[in-house]
Amino acid sequence: MKVNDSRRLQGAAAAVCVGALLIAVPLADAAGTTINDIAVIGHNSAASEPAGELLYATNCGGCHQADGGGVPMMQPQLIGAPRANDSKGGVIDMILFGSNAIEPGTSEFSNEMPSLSQLSDKEIALIVSYVRTHFENNGGPVTADDVSKRRTQ
Ligand code: HEC
Repeated sequence: MKVNDSRRLQGAAAAVCVGALLIAVPLADAAGTTINDIAVIGHNSAASEPAGELLYATNCGGCHQADGGGVPMMQPQLIGAPRANDSKGGVIDMILFGSNAIEPGTSEFSNEMPSLSQLSDKEIALIVSYVRTHFENNGGPVTADDVSKRRTQ
């Protein structure tokens, strides 16, 4: 390799670094204000995927298990769960209202799901998107705006 070539390579590497910085700043901004930008990028986005998984593990995994398999008689499995493949409200309402979202007298489970409405719209959107795009579900992602609308209904 000639000296000239290696200079050019260093220049290119520096340009890549600057590019990464420019991308990182708006993403951090978006995370601070609204999840919409990240949720729209989609569930394959490197930014939302680990966040949704972590939030699920922290808030839901204890009952529904990391693999969504649930616990027989106690907590339903989320694998192929009707609510995770249907209209956007199903999983959102479970998180906002807990077992109160279930029609009285129809539960097949001995445990109750508490309301987790203290989570932010953004956090709930990340969790719901994670559930709806994993565990053999294909309901698709939801936005913080979708969550906000269900809160006020
Ligand atoms: C304390 C245990 C517990 C926690 C924590 C919990 N759940 Fe649940 N979840 C339940 C139980 C029990 C039910 C069944 C409710 C009923 O029949 O009253 C349920 C039901 C559901 C359903 C409906 C499933 C179906 O097939 O209709 C969904 C979706 C769900 N939970 C998602 C979540 C998510 C997402 C989280 C985390 C944000 C979470 N749950 C946290 C216990 C829990």
